[in-house]
Amino acid sequence: MGSTGLLHLFCVVVALLGVSLISDGLDIISWKVILINGQFPGPRLDLVTNDNVILNLINKLDEPFLLTWNGIKQRKNSWQDGVLGTNCPIPPNSNYTYKFQTKDQIGSYSYFPSTLIHRAAGGFGGLNVYHRSVIPIPYPNPDGDFTLLVGDWYKTNHKTLRQTLDSGRSLANPDGLLINGQAHTTFNGDQGKTYMFRISNVGMTTSINFRIQGHTLKLVEVEGSHTVQNLYDSLDVHVGQSVSVLVTLNQPPKDYYIVASTRFTKQILTTTAVLHYTNSHSPVSGPLPPPPPSGYHWSMQQARTYRWNLTANAARPNPQGSFHYGKIPTTKTIVLANSASLINGKLRYAVNKVSYVNSDTPLKLADYFNIPGIFSEDKMQILPSSGPATIATSVLPASLHDFIEVVFQNNENTMQSWHLDGYDFWVIGYVCLSLFVSPSFIYGSGQWTADKRSTYNLVDALTRHTTQVYPNSWTTILVSLDNQGMWNMRSAIWERQYLGQQFYLRVWNAQKSLANEYDIPNNALLCGKAVGHHP
Ligand SMILES: *[C@@H]1O[C@H](CO)[C@@H](O)[C@H](O)[C@H]1NC(C)=O
Ligand SMILES: *[C@@H]1O[C@H](CO)[C@@H](O)[C@H](O)[C@H]1NC(C)=O
Repeated sequence: MGSTGLLHLFCVVVALLGVSLISDGLDIISWKVILINGQFPGPRLDLVTNDNVILNLINKLDEPFLLTWNGIKQRKNSWQDGVLGTNCPIPPNSNYTYKFQTKDQIGSYSYFPSTLIHRAAGGFGGLNVYHRSVIPIPYPNPDGDFTLLVGDWYKTNHKTLRQTLDSGRSLANPDGLLINGQAHTTFNGDQGKTYMFRISNVGMTTSINFRIQGHTLKLVEVEGSHTVQNLYDSLDVHVGQSVSVLVTLNQPPKDYYIVASTRFTKQILTTTAVLHYTNSHSPVSGPLPPPPPSGYHWSMQQARTYRWNLTANAARPNPQGSFHYGKIPTTKTIVLANSASLINGKLRYAVNKVSYVNSDTPLKLADYFNIPGIFSEDKMQILPSSGPATIATSVLPASLHDFIEVVFQNNENTMQSWHLDGYDFWVIGYVCLSLFVSPSFIYGSGQWTADKRSTYNLVDALTRHTTQVYPNSWTTILVSLDNQGMWNMRSAIWERQYLGQQFYLRVWNAQKSLANEYDIPNNALLCGKAVGHHP
């Protein structure tokens, strides 16, 4: 690994504990949550680009466990990605030491458990990557910095949720929304000062809208991209996504509501936190700021206003816009259609008719040790077709340095959120059917076709690691496959991920070279058919 950057040593212990939460001052909810170093949410990891991280994760749960680093690109290093296709889960009362470097990205991220359905019980935390002092950022340093992990929440124990999914049924609607694991959190700031709010949707299934009474949000960063700094009254954040906004405390000294509410749900769940001016003597009051119009149109129009600031730099000194992504010829088009169906009488989700199941042997280890029969590279096609879905451990092969166009074709009537590990990608096109009032859309204008390319933003789309796809619509991304490894492409909606809406992208170059990919770490855990091999 590179030698620049500080070395950060973390030791984290994950454990399960019953906690009580007072919700709305009335009912006391008790349930078991996953704690990290005694905290729920887990400790915030504050890093700087190029930092080297050594993190020992000690598992005190009664189940195998892994953490993944949502949006941390793990350059040349899918060994540390912390998903079941790359790592053996850490058995109970064991530990694993992750070693990775935060490269080429400045922004707000999160980490969360990738195993079983642990994410429903906590174990997540904020992960912020700050700029090195030699790299400028396109806004003044804020006076303070708040991390807000917002997500839907089930009162039901995660093992019961898992039994529901394992028995082939869908989860019920979540019971509530939490900000930083609580129903009421207070953020303190001085009047006249400007604060950064780093907002991540760490929930299981639900898009959220975020807003602050009496204040505007200046969007400055989305998952490692510096954006054109537009002002918003509220922002939609879909599952797995993060945004950073600046908020100036320019209102009379008082306390203000911070509001998160669910989007596109029949019943709207709302939770509040408090923005407290340090010179305030008035508690929060007045009506909550209203949510934006329901329906998908407003949300998609907002997403289209997220643009790269072409003259601003990101983690590297050169301007983001000097990478003319729209001029690079694509080497391949992949169209991925999600679906839900019963397989052997049980609910499964699939991508291009293949519903993913984990192997006991991580795919990355099978690759390294040449263990045959673990995954199949020919089950999942790169274009959708009709027919029943089947179950497989599916991998899509790709060549290092390909530049690919990926279309997420959503023929279902629900919101989708797609994530790719190891990369950020340009989100160059969305279509949302609520745009069309004509009944013709029933017959398929939400289908992507090659002529839709004329609508792409090939100039100033931003890069991110997770994109939403609206119901009966499509979203197109471009990905520069410059990071060799075995990378998980998955639904960020956790029920879908758990029941098969995922696969791995094997970005590969036949020439084995440490310039392309790091060697297996000597502390790699071994499991399945990799037991007995030597890293
Ligand atoms: C971590 O596991 C190793 C064995 O793999 C063991 O030697 C070490 O004591 C463990 N460390 C902690 C802190 O539990
Ligand atoms: C874009 O970034 C530049 C350079 O940091 C900055 O001066 C400018 O204000 C930004 N423009 C917008 C519209 O955010």
